Amino acid sequence: MRAVVVALGKIGLPLAAQLARAGHDVVGCDVDPRVLECVNAGRSPFPGEAGLDEMLAEQVAAGRLRASADTSTAVAEAPDLVIAVPPLVVDAAARPDWSVLDAVAGAIGAGLRPGTTVSVETTVPVGTTRERVTPILAGESGLRPEQDFHVVFSPERVFSGRVFADLASYPKLVGGLTPAGEARGIALYEAFLPAEVRGMGSAEAAELAKLAETTYRDLNIAYANELARYADRLGVDVGAVIDAANSQPFSHIHRPGVAVGGHCIPVYPRFLLAGAPEARLPAAARAVNEAMPAYAVDLLGDVRGRRVLILGVAYRGGVKETAFSGAFAVRDELTARGADPVAQDPLYTADELTDLGYNPWDGGTVDAVLVQADHADYASLTPAGLPGARLVVDGRGVLDPAPFAAAGVPVRRIGRA
Ligand SMILES: NC(=O)c1ccc[n+]([C@@H]2O[C@H](COP(=O)([O-])OP(=O)(O)OC[C@H]3O[C@@H](n4cnc5c(N)ncnc54)[C@H](O)[C@@H]3O)[C@@H](O)[C@H]2O)c1
Repeated sequence: MRAVVVALGKIGLPLAAQLARAGHDVVGCDVDPRVLECVNAGRSPFPGEAGLDEMLAEQVAAGRLRASADTSTAVAEAPDLVIAVPPLVVDAAARPDWSVLDAVAGAIGAGLRPGTTVSVETTVPVGTTRERVTPILAGESGLRPEQDFHVVFSPERVFSGRVFADLASYPKLVGGLTPAGEARGIALYEAFLPAEVRGMGSAEAAELAKLAETTYRDLNIAYANELARYADRLGVDVGAVIDAANSQPFSHIHRPGVAVGGHCIPVYPRFLLAGAPEARLPAAARAVNEAMPAYAVDLLGDVRGRRVLILGVAYRGGVKETAFSGAFAVRDELTARGADPVAQDPLYTADELTDLGYNPWDGGTVDAVLVQADHADYASLTPAGLPGARLVVDGRGVLDPAPFAAAGVPVRRIGRA
């Protein structure tokens, strides 16, 4: 088949490479000239995706994959499949800014020819594929949906860094606007994916499946956090409690922690609630998880006038990404309580920390420390590396408590009094 992939990010580019590897003819489209230059040179524009560099070198050299800035022209060549996976930017309350998705749908619509199937992979609120994207495609092209062209939704479910392994292991979900469109979408995905391709019966079911699996994680973490707060009052170790509960096959409780951050888990429950405002659990889980940074600060005791070091501004260990990071809430909470917060993160320079609104730690004396991200480097921290610290709150359970115990510096962990 011939395919076009629009937006060559951490998700779109591996998909384009996977299509080419399966022997198809692929054009990848992006607005960033650096991305286009890298891809056309057979290199990945970003690090960390296992196998991607090798695959790009091979497929670009073989002439099966090329990158272009011109989405409409690429789509006008009447490919069988167009995959759109642009980012959906949201505000602090997780309300979507539709401009990029609308622009991408408009560019695809302007080139659309009869016979093409368009698949939306960006995670969206339920109804977006049918009620927002399809009218733009129809309006720009003058073609009739489900007569001249098909539209499906197929959620991206992979974890960046191991996209190819994930694409090979769990089902790819596809939901159409009509049964015929869905069948066509399934056939197209089966032509390049090794895993099961599962028809969902409708675009809405496929959209909801993605929101269901991500919201489940938010609910589950919220439950772990509530157990942890109770365990703190009881003086028991919630880690041992959760391990024990999970030792029979019906319990899958996640881990408590200082914050739930990132582009996905704090955002998609809000998409679910936008369509189902009567749902109580997602809203309750969000409230529980959003209260955790303040709870972690509570564990520091009175911080007035104290210099407190925040370790890790990334939303989680090992990724240079601050979307919805708990570090912002920790900083604001410390400031509101009269502390003097400073921050350190092995993935960010002092200038980058300043740009993010933090006062970078100069390595000098601090009164207390709060670990916000589980960077691997932190596992080997000792009191000697934290001069002056008299108390450490380990919000991720990542520190080795032994050297702190030996030096008489208490380490408090959430749910592990
Ligand atoms: N990263 C993940 O782990 C992950 C996991 C599951 C789902 N997703 C979904 O995939 C979507 C994309 O995520 P990502 O991580 O690939 O994003 P990304 O930030 O890595 O890449 C986005 C790409 O889109 C390009 N772009 C922006 N506007 C464009 C336009 N108008 N036309 C063409 N290209 C344009 C950018 O230049 C960039 O290369 C997310 O919004 C999310 O819905 C991501």
